[in-house]
Amino acid sequence: MPVISAPYDFNEDELYVDLASMFGHSLFLKCEGFNFAGSIKLKAAIEMVEAAERDGVLKPDSILVESSSGNLGVALSMIAASKGYRFLCVTDSRCNLTTRLMMEALGSQVHVIAGQEANGSFLGARIDYLRALCASDRRYVWLSQYTNPSNWKAHYRRTAPEIARQFPQLDTLFIGAGTTGTLMGCARFFREWHRPVRIVAVDSVGSVSFGGEAGRRMIPGLGMSIRPPLLDESYVDEVIRVEEKDTIRACHSLARNGFLFGGSTGTVVSGAMGWLAEHETAGHTAVALAPDLGERYLDTVYQSNWLQGLYGDDVIEADERASESWAVQPAPPAPASSPSPSPSPGGRRPHMRTGDRGGRRRHRRRTGDP
Ligand SMILES: Cc1ncc(COP(=O)(O)O)c(C=O)c1O
Repeated sequence: MPVISAPYDFNEDELYVDLASMFGHSLFLKCEGFNFAGSIKLKAAIEMVEAAERDGVLKPDSILVESSSGNLGVALSMIAASKGYRFLCVTDSRCNLTTRLMMEALGSQVHVIAGQEANGSFLGARIDYLRALCASDRRYVWLSQYTNPSNWKAHYRRTAPEIARQFPQLDTLFIGAGTTGTLMGCARFFREWHRPVRIVAVDSVGSVSFGGEAGRRMIPGLGMSIRPPLLDESYVDEVIRVEEKDTIRACHSLARNGFLFGGSTGTVVSGAMGWLAEHETAGHTAVALAPDLGERYLDTVYQSNWLQGLYGDDVIEADERASESWAVQPAPPAPASSPSPSPSPGGRRPHMRTGDRGGRRRHRRRTGDP
């Protein structure tokens, strides 16, 4: 029976959903949304705060500041409330209302940036605002999730070993890429592990994290409008890019099976199921990370007016097609390169593919960052 006195002391580490019966391919989805911050960002948040405390950067009169699309902001709000710090979250209009209200309920101040850059991103404006704040008063402490090594170390120390403990025969790990903290922490851990694990990064179409053209992205969590400073592609074997329409279809397919997950989980599941449909071999062990749950997305991913306005009338009706298209195919002829795991040697660029099950790309630019 876990008994806690600080809200960050609890995290459900051992919950996996087996998606085989839903989608026809064996994939264990590690649920990271069962803690008081409601997302995987709790681990990065507490690691960064405690490192800043150890380094003497964070003092009792400090005011924490951070740029976040929401989940890190909620986690930092919770930690700041518990530890007695003030916290100011700098976000933008893509942050959903529930998330903003949660941060405020936890006692944080939320600053919403309105001005979009020419490339559709708010990230530069968020960072400019933070720099100006920090220059104005020495009490401001910016943790900087985009560059802070404690972001990836949290997953090197906690997330990856938890998976390794449960899946000693792990072959492939699918990880969504935002700041790439989760990706880099897990990839570094498994590079040193006793057996090779194929690391597959899942990104959204319109993100420039792994190269490619910037485009509109409306679902927060994954993707960046700049190259993530924490990213070292030599640790990544493959990159899959998923259209937002496919993300929506995967979220709705999961929900119709009673599992209400957040948007980025839909991206990861869609990308992973597409990959497994092409590669699966008998006895293959695959795990994917589900960063949060669906309540925060009721007025976006799960709201029909929002969906129709952005993605057209067919996006929900076409839900069924997503799971149908992942149905097990007859075995293809033996591929030239084996699907068995083989981490890329240092310096190699990961293989990249874009999953597109009919989602037409539109370029009304609006790009979100974690
Ligand atoms: C819902 C959600 N999914 C995925 C991610 C990506 O995680 P990371 O920043 O570690 O790449 C985030 C990050 O904020 C997130 O909020």
